[in-house]
Amino acid sequence: MLMEKTMRFAIHTLGCKVNQYESEKITSNLIGMGWEFVDFAAQPDVFIINSCTVTSVASHKSRQLIRRAIKGNSGALVVVAGCYADADRAEIEKIAGVGLVVGNGQKDRIPRLITAHLGIALDGNGDKQSIQAGQHGHTRALVKVQDGCDNFCTYCIVPYVRGDLWSRPADDVVAEVRALADGGTQEIVLTGIHLGLYGAGIDTDLGGLLARLVEVPNLGRIRLSSIELNEVSPQIIELMATSGKMANHLHIPLQSGSDAILKRMNRHYTAEEFIARARELQEKIENVAISTDIIVGFPGETDADFAESLRVVKEVGFSKLHVFKYSLRKGTPAATYDDQIPGSAKDARSMALINAGHTFAADFAARYVGKRLSVLIERGVGDRLSGVSDNYVRVYAHGPREIIGTLADIEIIEQEDTALYGRLVWKR
Ligand code: 5AD
Ligand code: SF4
Repeated sequence: MLMEKTMRFAIHTLGCKVNQYESEKITSNLIGMGWEFVDFAAQPDVFIINSCTVTSVASHKSRQLIRRAIKGNSGALVVVAGCYADADRAEIEKIAGVGLVVGNGQKDRIPRLITAHLGIALDGNGDKQSIQAGQHGHTRALVKVQDGCDNFCTYCIVPYVRGDLWSRPADDVVAEVRALADGGTQEIVLTGIHLGLYGAGIDTDLGGLLARLVEVPNLGRIRLSSIELNEVSPQIIELMATSGKMANHLHIPLQSGSDAILKRMNRHYTAEEFIARARELQEKIENVAISTDIIVGFPGETDADFAESLRVVKEVGFSKLHVFKYSLRKGTPAATYDDQIPGSAKDARSMALINAGHTFAADFAARYVGKRLSVLIERGVGDRLSGVSDNYVRVYAHGPREIIGTLADIEIIEQEDTALYGRLVWKR
């Protein structure tokens, strides 16, 4: 009897954790249909590019991947999904060799859209396959709980390409996390486009959801992706301080340290409010790490404004900085501001902040020499094990490979730049 050909697909993901989660979901759905997941270079039948457009660099990378998929492939279907597809659909449709352009609103239906396009039958229920399958057994798993943003920061394209606010029902989230924990996942990372808006449209909020998740048996720890300053509620602080289940790490975007720029960005806090809140969190949550995003070269940013950003990041004592050069996004208010900053100034400011951020990361790590950290052991590197502490520092230690995928207590012996080296003292 003739065997039916197994379809082979490759997927490449750009951008945020929500996009990564959605790619994992697409992957497990296609695998659930009997398709084979292969590398981009392995001549797949279908290429999927799950794109990003948050900056011009992200759009450029998305275009490069599309071209790479098309080049040298005859007959393969090239699917472009995600935020770049929503932002620049017409431009992408013009590229010869692109077969399908799928916006965020249709992402769930990708298996169905592909099979319809290829004129083949959809085996099983491709759209409804369990999203957990692909993540089972992973040490750390992403769990998407929220979509959309209605803040409309003046530089940001995201609210336009991600659509309406959506919160996943808490029962649904708890069920997924239970299944992941039972399958051996130690850490879950709650993700959303604007995570702190979780709860809009349903009868709970992020604190309420976390209060349920910390009770899930067999789960090591819960990490939050990005959250805004004013959304770290008293309940969240309390859980982080006392539950023992929350990773003591918060990623809180500052964006700028200048009040004038924050206002023009449509960010609803001042630099002093940010500093005061950060102090409060550092006092209430032992060993908390606070990392952040900063944009340099927003329209109208003077040397004095930039100096404020440098001052504020020093004062807060961030554990890590993600530095972005302002990128003009068509359709956003800031794109029309006439005091755009030249690239050379953005480059210089970005370099200065990246260097400062490196020093902060090393200083933060240094505080833990002689102390004990809880580390999720992820992999072996040479003769050592490597993992990430609950407050998000890279930690190395010698120990048996059997403990990969588990939480271990490590006594820190020395600092290695922004990372740490320690001795395994106890494993759960
Ligand atoms: N230019 C530069 N950085 C941006 N970000 C969002 N939009 C832009 C833009 N137009 C950054 C912000 C945000 C992070 C995810 O991306 O710092 O927090
Ligand atoms: Fe963009 Fe601001 Fe919404 Fe974050 S909060 S997604 S930066 S508009």
